[in-house]
Amino acid sequence: MCGIVGYVGSQQAAPILLEGLTRLEHRGYDSAGVAVLGGSGVRVGKRAGRVRDLSEALPKRFSGKLGIGHTRWATHGPATDANAHPHTDVDGRVAVVHNGIIDNASTLRAALTDAGVELASDTDTEVVAHLVARSDADTLEGKVRDALASVEGTYGLAVVHADFPDRMVVARNGSPLIVGVGGGEMYVASDLAALVRHTTTVAHLEDGELATVTATGFTTMRRDLTATHREAAPLDIDPAAFDAGEHASYMLKEILEQPDSAERVLRGRLVERFGTAHLGGLNLDARETRAISRVKILGCGSAYYVGQMGASLIEELARIPADAEAASEFRYRNPIIEPDTLYVAVSQSGETVDTLLAVQEIRRKGGRVIGLVNVVGSAIARECDGGIYLHAGPEVAVASTKALTTMFLGFSLLALQLGRVRDLSIADGRRLIEGLQRIPDHIRQILGHDDEYATIAKQLAEAESLFFVGRVRGYPVAREGAQKFKEISYRHAEAYQTSELKHGPLALIEASVPTVAIVPDDELADRNVAALHEIAARGGPLVVVTHATVDLGDLTATRIDVPACERELDPILLTLPLQLLAYHAALHLGHDIDKPRNLAKSVTVE
Ligand code: F6R
Repeated sequence: MCGIVGYVGSQQAAPILLEGLTRLEHRGYDSAGVAVLGGSGVRVGKRAGRVRDLSEALPKRFSGKLGIGHTRWATHGPATDANAHPHTDVDGRVAVVHNGIIDNASTLRAALTDAGVELASDTDTEVVAHLVARSDADTLEGKVRDALASVEGTYGLAVVHADFPDRMVVARNGSPLIVGVGGGEMYVASDLAALVRHTTTVAHLEDGELATVTATGFTTMRRDLTATHREAAPLDIDPAAFDAGEHASYMLKEILEQPDSAERVLRGRLVERFGTAHLGGLNLDARETRAISRVKILGCGSAYYVGQMGASLIEELARIPADAEAASEFRYRNPIIEPDTLYVAVSQSGETVDTLLAVQEIRRKGGRVIGLVNVVGSAIARECDGGIYLHAGPEVAVASTKALTTMFLGFSLLALQLGRVRDLSIADGRRLIEGLQRIPDHIRQILGHDDEYATIAKQLAEAESLFFVGRVRGYPVAREGAQKFKEISYRHAEAYQTSELKHGPLALIEASVPTVAIVPDDELADRNVAALHEIAARGGPLVVVTHATVDLGDLTATRIDVPACERELDPILLTLPLQLLAYHAALHLGHDIDKPRNLAKSVTVE
């Protein structure tokens, strides 16, 4: 959420910063800005709107070989030119970009106002620029240290100062910051996406760390300025994976990548001989596994819904009571942390602060947490006692797709491993392994019906309001379907248990309110179809996502058949057409698929 870039070297900084910001725009796209340090001191260009608006507005000569940039997702104050970052002190000698939230900003703002400082914005960040400028320290590092001494909250920060034209100082506490090493030039970013085209040799700062970055290198230190000697290391990543390539949007690219990412998350982890999974990173031996009496899964948004699918898998296969909860609510209800509960945090970015704080709460109270995380080395991955990396590859579109599929498969592997040291027979273990091996092909088959989904999506897009319904295994699928649809089409889409409709929401059904129903071929299929008749009888249009073997009788409905796999694995296949329905509806409505309004990728604020 929000993106930061920085550059120092022998080239003009502004074009590099603007290109970096374009790469980070999925992190926030309310406003953008850059500050460069040139012969005439600090120059700032910033405005509400997209990075391309900023590029067009910047003067041709905006020279300086050191600079910082920011793309914003508004927290304090609306998206205006004044609230865009970088923020400066009164004399315009200090410029600051910031991700995170300064909790005591109002106190600091009041103190600065009392001291006669005229604040130029509504933001929390601006106080940092004034605090840096007002420090008496004689180094930039000392000034930043002094400023941070009065700041409470989370930050990834980059600071430049006209009196120290060879350097920027960056600091991290709760918001990611990465330093990239080039030849005679250095980069800073909140996200690898902004760096990989320049360098893949990077150092991730830890919370509580600062770094001085000059054209020739960087040094790291604690907040008291004692050295931490962090070094950069090369990463094994393909820069092309961060591009949309020939695809019209990242979301479409990521949807189409799902057969490959499914293969990657399963690769080397299925042990056919014993009908189990091999997950070395869990750090759980058989004795510890047998001692688990409950599994609690924590995630946010779509990750939470896939967590619900994961809980069903674990209950069915390992016969361990399991449930999922929204990580954002967890720590505020003073949860009881049980030593024999296995806690599982699930997150694509590994940076979602609500999930991170839930993990920290569990660990503080002595619980054991494992992570299902996509981004290697991310905060949640580092905070957990062990885990499963999802290997989905970089996910850029705000609406998550391929990461969710790998989360489901990660839960399948976990359920298999837990199940095989408890209740699951070797025959069932092997049956599931065969099912998992078929998943990438099933996904390919489903994606092959894109034209059909596009036609149905155009009809759904005409409705102002929709229901997504399912039961038991199908309910989290419906929740995820509704989430994706509302996120990018801006239509009101509500998920309900099919069985609950008649207890209230059926009152809303009429010809203008379509329902997308999830009806797998399972023991509830007949009951599901009966409930759909109640919708049809009230004139409600129906789209049924189902299996070819389900008999819908004389129900008036548009049906989408997905290939049947092993019953336990069906939820993820039933989810895939819903991604494409949302995608095509948004496309038809002319929305920005990758950057839906009001949202941003990776929610790093509470
Ligand atoms: C929906 C979506 C969000 C994320 C949620 C958690 O398409 O992307 O609901 O799933 O913000 O994000 P991660 O998985 O990064 O923790």
